[in-house]
Amino acid sequence: MAQTERAHWSGRLGFILAASGSAVGLGNIWKFPYVAGENGGGVFVLFYLLCIALVGLPAFIAELRVGQQGQANAVQSFKNLDHAGSKWRVAGWCGLVASFLILSFYSVVGGWVFDFVWLAIHGEISPDNAANVSTLLPELHASAFRQTFWHLFFMAATVFIVLAGVKDGLERYTKILMPVLLGLLMLLFFRSFATPGIGKALEFLFRFDLSSFSTDSLLEAVGHSFFTLSLGMGAILTYGSYLDKKESAFRLSLTVALLDTVIALAAGVIIFSTVFSNPGTEPNSGPGLMFITLPLLFADMDGGQYVALAFFLLVAFAALTSSVSMLEVVVAYWHEQHNVSRKKTALTVGGIIAALGLLSAFSTNVLADVTVYGLTFFDLFDKLTSLFLLPMGGLGISLFFGWKMCPKSANQIFSNPLHAAVLTWLCRIVVPAAVLIVIGSEILS
Ligand code: PHE
Repeated sequence: MAQTERAHWSGRLGFILAASGSAVGLGNIWKFPYVAGENGGGVFVLFYLLCIALVGLPAFIAELRVGQQGQANAVQSFKNLDHAGSKWRVAGWCGLVASFLILSFYSVVGGWVFDFVWLAIHGEISPDNAANVSTLLPELHASAFRQTFWHLFFMAATVFIVLAGVKDGLERYTKILMPVLLGLLMLLFFRSFATPGIGKALEFLFRFDLSSFSTDSLLEAVGHSFFTLSLGMGAILTYGSYLDKKESAFRLSLTVALLDTVIALAAGVIIFSTVFSNPGTEPNSGPGLMFITLPLLFADMDGGQYVALAFFLLVAFAALTSSVSMLEVVVAYWHEQHNVSRKKTALTVGGIIAALGLLSAFSTNVLADVTVYGLTFFDLFDKLTSLFLLPMGGLGISLFFGWKMCPKSANQIFSNPLHAAVLTWLCRIVVPAAVLIVIGSEILS
C-alpha cells in the first residue's frame, strides 16, 4: 500500500481533456437526445441546464476536491481525509462496484458503436442498402458472436489505454481522441445548419413549452446530470487525485461541465436536424434513435455513408474516453491498495469485467429468456447502478464534502465568502435532497 510517487497529469490541459473525455460519452450523444425527445424537448433541456448548474456542478466540484485533497484512489481518499476506519469510505466502495458493473454493459453498447463504424465503412449504411438499415441493430442483437466480438474489442481497447498509465495512457490517448471528436462534432454540427430540419430542431430543443411539463422529466434531468458528468462512481475523484493540489477546482469543474453541456446540445442539434429533415420521423423513438432512426436517415441522404462513418466514429471515441475512466477507478484502487503492478491489475480487472459483460452481451440472444426480478442482465445492471449505486455514491461524496470538508475547503476554492457559502450549502442540502428524491421516487414507482 506504500505509495511513494503518485502519477500526475502533465498539467491542467491533461486533466481537462481526460475529465471531459470521461464526461462526454454515450450519455451525451446517445442518451441525452433520446431522453430529451421522449420528455418534450425544450422543457427537459431547461431542467437539464438547471440541474447541471445547481446539482451537477457542485457535485462535480465536491468529487474532484475529495480526490484532489485526498491524493489517492476512491476508497483511500476518504481515509486520508478522515481516518483509517472512516465510514465514508463506503461511498468509495459504492463507486467501485458501480464502475465495475457499469463498464460491463457500457462496453457492450460501445461494441455496438464499433460494429456500426464497421458497417458504415462497408457501405451498409448507405442509399444502396436503405431497405435493410432498420434491421442492422436487431441483427446485431440476435448474433451472440458479433455482440461478443465487439464487446471484447471495446474492452481490449479500454484495457490497452489504461495499462499504459496516467500520462502515457489516459492523457496521451485522450489528447488525441478528444480533438478528433471535437473536430468531427463541429463538422456535423455546421453541416446540420444546411439541412431543412434545422429550424424545427432548434425550436424543439430550445422552445420552452410549459404544457409538456411533467415531474418525470424533472427526475430524469436530475439523474441524467449525474450520469453525464460521470459523477457518483469515483471517476472524477480518481482523475482529481492526479491533479496538483494548487489547481483551481472551480475553474476546472466549470470548464468540464460547460464542455459536456455544449457537446450534448450540439449532439441534440445534429440528431434532431436530421430527424426533422424527414417528414414523418418522430423525435421520440427512444433508445433506437441513434442506432435505427438515424442510420435510416443517413441512408437517405447524399453522401450519407460518410456522414454515418463520421458520426459513429465520433460516438466510438466518446465512448472509449469514458470507459477508460471507469476502468481507472477500479485499477487505481487495486493497484494502490494491493501493490500489484498497473499492467497486471488492468489486464486482470479488465478480463473479469469483460467476462461479466458477456451476461449483458447475451441478454439479447442466448440469455434473452433468463431474467432476474423480471429483468435481463443488461437491464438489471443498468437499473442497479443508475438507480441505486451511482446516486448513493454521489450522495456520500456530497455529504462528506459538504459537512466534513466545508466550509474550510470551499473557502480554499473561493476567495469570496458568499460563493463559498453557496457551494457549501448546495453540497450539504440541495445535492443530497435531489439525489434522495430521485431514489425515493424510483422506489415508490
Ligand atoms: N459520463 C459518461 C457519459 O456521458 C458516462 C460515465 C458515467 C462515465 C460515469 C464515467 C463514469 O456517457
